[in-house]
Amino acid sequence: MTTLGLETSCDETSAAVLRNGADVLSSVVASQADLHARWGGVVPEVASRKHVERALPTIFEAIKAAGIGLPDINGIAVTNRPGLIGALVVGVAAAKALAYALDRPLVGVHHLAGHLASCRLADAALTPPFVCLLVSGGHTELALVAEDGALRTLGRTRDDAAGECFDKCARVLGLPYPGGPHIDRLAARGDPLRVAFPRAWLGESLDFSFSGLKTAVLRFAEADGGATPLPDVAASLQAAIVEVLVAKAVRAAREAGVSALAVAGGVAANRGLAAALRTEGGRAGLRVVVPPPDLCTDNAAMIAAAGYPRLAAGVDERMTLDAAASEPLDSRVPLFARAAKGHIPQTASPPLS
Ligand code: KG4
Ligand code: ZN
Repeated sequence: MTTLGLETSCDETSAAVLRNGADVLSSVVASQADLHARWGGVVPEVASRKHVERALPTIFEAIKAAGIGLPDINGIAVTNRPGLIGALVVGVAAAKALAYALDRPLVGVHHLAGHLASCRLADAALTPPFVCLLVSGGHTELALVAEDGALRTLGRTRDDAAGECFDKCARVLGLPYPGGPHIDRLAARGDPLRVAFPRAWLGESLDFSFSGLKTAVLRFAEADGGATPLPDVAASLQAAIVEVLVAKAVRAAREAGVSALAVAGGVAANRGLAAALRTEGGRAGLRVVVPPPDLCTDNAAMIAAAGYPRLAAGVDERMTLDAAASEPLDSRVPLFARAAKGHIPQTASPPLS
């Protein structure tokens, strides 16, 4: 089965073609990051309009790069929740139009289910139970994917997401949006022990908090006035974020009694985080799955992978699919559900009346 994935939940217009939900034939990402950089963050209306402009060229590029024609597509998966509502609506409308024009089934995919699916794309042998650290610009949570594919949240951020913390602190330090990759690049040649930024451990909880760190970086920058070399500040900031993420992820896996730990989401592209997870996870005897950077940041390959089981099961949401700005991750991710036990949800959003 050849599936087309479409992702437009934030500032990346992306389309990908997968075979059997696992082989990536093509993946095209048209990022708007440069466009939003001048405002220091994503401007929702600008993002929606760029998606309108780029959706079709991106889709056609993905089809061409896969070496197939439009009629070869057997099903379509599109991100329909959560995200910037205007941006999501563009993707859903484009996917519906295509589904009708081609007379092919369409399913909606939860963006975080997509990020989870990137772990399976990176490692086909990854099967539940495992713990996944989901770290993106909008989310930070530790999820247990149980043997039957059921999801349980073990911890989540109480304020800012990890990516949001990277971006806001980077902005304070005068770095362009999105700041995460800039911090990563600078940190590689900096001293992580130079500035003692705070770590919010929150006792025994597996929750996270990054707002205190954000304030500490702001206070530091005001007092320091640029005296401390930027690579050292970046390395110290990255260490403060990474240390807590890694310690809690490894502890969550140990407490849940699983043998595999995966990480997903844009922040998983951070080299410091990947290295520390591999080291600490390995030390704890865990199999650590870190997808390659282009599967960590927003992409449609992960959306096609996440939607595949429902398309293969005959689900079609062409008539009912809607977009939603916010929605918690489904209690079960079909990609990881065992066929015999798992149910395949029929609709991702309530039918229109
Ligand atoms: O998953 P994603 O592409 O979009 C959302 O779903 O939010 O994540 C974007 C976030 C941004 O905050 C960005 O700064 C961060 O991921 N990010 C990074 C790196 N690459 C992207 N943060 C740290 N280091 C990186 N290399
Ligand atoms: Zn994302």
